[in-house]
Amino acid sequence: MVALFAEISSHFSLYRVDVMMNVIFFLVLTLLGTVSCSPPLKYDSIFSFGDSLADTGNFLRSGALKFPVIGKLPYGETFFHHGTGRCSDGRLIVDFIAAAYGLPYLRPYLALAKGEKVEHGVNFAVAGATALDAKFFYDRKIGQILWTNDSLSVQLGWFNNLKSTLCSTKQDCAKYFKRSLFLVGEIGGNDYNYPFFVGGSVTQLKAMVPAVVETIAAATSMLIEEGAVELVVAGNLPIGCNAVYLTLFQTSDRTAYDKNGCLKAHNAFSKYHNAQLKLALQNLQQKYPHARISYADYYGASKRFFHVPKHFGFKDGSLVACCGGGGPYNFNNSARCGHTGSKACLDPKAHVNWDGIHLTEAAYRYISMGLVNGSFMYPPLSFPPLNYNVF
Ligand SMILES: *[C@@H]1O[C@H](CO)[C@@H](O)[C@H](O)[C@H]1NC(C)=O
Ligand SMILES: *[C@@H]1O[C@H](CO)[C@@H](O)[C@H](O)[C@H]1NC(C)=O
Repeated sequence: MVALFAEISSHFSLYRVDVMMNVIFFLVLTLLGTVSCSPPLKYDSIFSFGDSLADTGNFLRSGALKFPVIGKLPYGETFFHHGTGRCSDGRLIVDFIAAAYGLPYLRPYLALAKGEKVEHGVNFAVAGATALDAKFFYDRKIGQILWTNDSLSVQLGWFNNLKSTLCSTKQDCAKYFKRSLFLVGEIGGNDYNYPFFVGGSVTQLKAMVPAVVETIAAATSMLIEEGAVELVVAGNLPIGCNAVYLTLFQTSDRTAYDKNGCLKAHNAFSKYHNAQLKLALQNLQQKYPHARISYADYYGASKRFFHVPKHFGFKDGSLVACCGGGGPYNFNNSARCGHTGSKACLDPKAHVNWDGIHLTEAAYRYISMGLVNGSFMYPPLSFPPLNYNVF
């Protein structure tokens, strides 16, 4: 705790120096009368695509029925004090990023009124969404377990529909999107979750990785073709440390676990996906040298929580979910968070995992800080956040 505090305060003093330097810089520019020529130091808007890690209310409004509990308490209890459709007790990574850049929380696309003016971006992410189209899963006879059909391509379609209300000519759009930050994912995690949950093996699932990665890369490339210049593409979390995986794949074979109690094979699978994604992004970066395509290392940013939980204010036993219906990891599929027989812990801040699948606001806060400050973003974003107070 003390170490963390020291780290944060050193961060703050650095930030102050930064602010002072900016003030001096602007004074000089003002004196020279060249302020109007200075480049913008921030993003005007954010567009977000993804799944439950980023959904701020689309799933609830999509008409899908599988997971209505995310619309009521204890979901949202820590920050919003009511359910918003976010799969957490509070804010998500996208919320922290928007706030850090002085932008309002993004409106979920499906909450927009017809013709509503969008100023600071929109969130297209849908809980349960896959990178691959739903057809892929229906063709393989596991379509019925999908929460939603609003895959990445559906979300891109929404973006295209909205585009005509944002800008008209290609040039006009390019100018607008140049000052926007595009968050692509996390997406792809569900493409693996669904098959894993119905008994797919790591070997079987490895065969899917190239298709998932290609889909994410194609979406990224489409956005660049539309005028996006600054994009963040997120990798997958260490799923082997996730309460639902730890519960479903529990084994008496101690060699299956790493020193933090996470499932080695499943974490290795996340790393495998991430490595392929990074390669695909390198190729895209070569193809589009004018764009800045950053890889967001969700894996690295959250693996630390299990390694040194105390450092982040998490308690030992950081693998146990806050909200659930019992069991060694507090995940019980017949009494999931929000359902009868489940209850939420009193100290979500001390937990990494919220409901067995998703993380707590506390965890998302540290992840997003590590993303915007560049520690887990390769390359770092072009602009430093306007304010670190949100963390
Ligand atoms: C998804 O699409 C399938 C097949 O087209 C359909 O049967 C199903 O109801 C859809 N699911 C949702 C949640 O909309
Ligand atoms: C960035 O934020 C993380 C918290 O996620 C922190 O551990 C790290 O020290 C910070 N790095 C810098 C350079 O400020």
